[in-house]
Amino acid sequence: LTTQVAIIGGGPSGLLLSQLLNKAGIDTVILERATRDHVLSRIRAGILEWGTVELLREAGVDARMDKEGIPHDGCYLTDEELMVHIDFKGLTGKQVMVYGQTEVTTDLYNAQAAMGTTVLHEVSDVEIHDLDQAKSYVDFTHEGTRKRLECLYVAGCDGFHGVSRKTIPEEKRKEFERVYPFGWLGILSETPPVNDELIYSNSRHGFALASMRNENLVRYYVQVPLTDKVEDWSDQRFWDEFSRRIPSEAASRLVTGPSIEKSIAPLRSFVSEPLRWGNLFLVGDSAHIVPPTGAKGLNLAASDVYYLYTALIDAVKGKTSGIDEYSTRALARIWKAMRFSWQMTTMLHRFDGEDAFAEQMRKATLNHLATSETARRDLAENYIGLPF
Ligand code: FAD
Ligand code: DHB
Repeated sequence: LTTQVAIIGGGPSGLLLSQLLNKAGIDTVILERATRDHVLSRIRAGILEWGTVELLREAGVDARMDKEGIPHDGCYLTDEELMVHIDFKGLTGKQVMVYGQTEVTTDLYNAQAAMGTTVLHEVSDVEIHDLDQAKSYVDFTHEGTRKRLECLYVAGCDGFHGVSRKTIPEEKRKEFERVYPFGWLGILSETPPVNDELIYSNSRHGFALASMRNENLVRYYVQVPLTDKVEDWSDQRFWDEFSRRIPSEAASRLVTGPSIEKSIAPLRSFVSEPLRWGNLFLVGDSAHIVPPTGAKGLNLAASDVYYLYTALIDAVKGKTSGIDEYSTRALARIWKAMRFSWQMTTMLHRFDGEDAFAEQMRKATLNHLATSETARRDLAENYIGLPF
């Protein structure tokens, strides 16, 4: 097998990169460990920045998003005393789009199939070689046979637990990490949203987020200790806890129902630098993780893809300045999203054993947002997404 760009991982990063490269006439092969159904069953992000929306348009996967996605003009941040509305549209002129990661991934898989690109599923034991040579190759097992894929470039789109990052020699990598002492328990339920915009709520019982997928499908989260298991949380326990963590006026409108998915995700900030090692480029979660509080994970994967696909188009024509600058350009934006996600997480969660000072800092931050349009504009500018 031979291709121009070998893509490890067929999640949102790998699929979007492949779609944009193939549209520009560049050949790719995606090697994905899981089945397509497994990739599509992972309920994750729900909010697209407008830059991500525009990149999906460029990739030609906008038809269903425009029909079924819901543009949002703002969101609410609240504790038990204050409820602050952040008017994205009024403050920045921009919106965000409610459209789930599973929908984005479905659209991309369908578009890839329509273009006839090669996506190999259930691939195992991926090994990446000769990254410092003119040509590289990837060995892998597929349908019981060991195979080789020769390529010019390798895109590491294989998430936090993938092989790509670990292929870079340890002494060439610098890692930055912050692990938070709690996780988010999330449920999907076929009920109408409790509010027409998202509510990020910091209550004395802990954080809760009211999000949605459509007018009859909600995605709600509560902060939980890392030791909790999904089995500890019956639907009834979830609804009781969620309803006491959101403002009482919203809770009085809450419609409950059976959950159709329930999972716990730990919260982490992580960056591995640089994003390039020879012919290998890291993209999305393979290089960085943000805590979900700012809705940045999927959107950062999209901006990495933007920087890399434009650079690779130039590189195959012999102009290498884009790939030379990829890591620096992408990291500048990544670190700003890291800062925002960390700040949102700190402002909206209670940490076990924290002191009274920490609580006052959280209150003052929300109070400042309530009274300063400048502060709200700063938050809105980050939430809707910094320019690529
Ligand atoms: P991934 O989605 O991780 O895709 C990587 C792909 O590579 C996977 O399909 C995997 O099977 C494959 N792979 C892994 N290893 C190999 C290998 N060795 N060989 C071949 N293939 C391999 N973001 C938000 O904005 N909001 C959220 O609410 C949110 N919730 C999240 C919940 C969880 C549990 C997680 C893990 C992430 C969440 N995120 C959220 C983040 C967001 O989903 C990710 O940023 C996004 O999925 C990144 O896309 P990716 O393609 O880079 O990585
Ligand atoms: C969703 C997840 C987030 O982390 C967030 O900040 C907003 C929405 C969601 O899953 O809908």
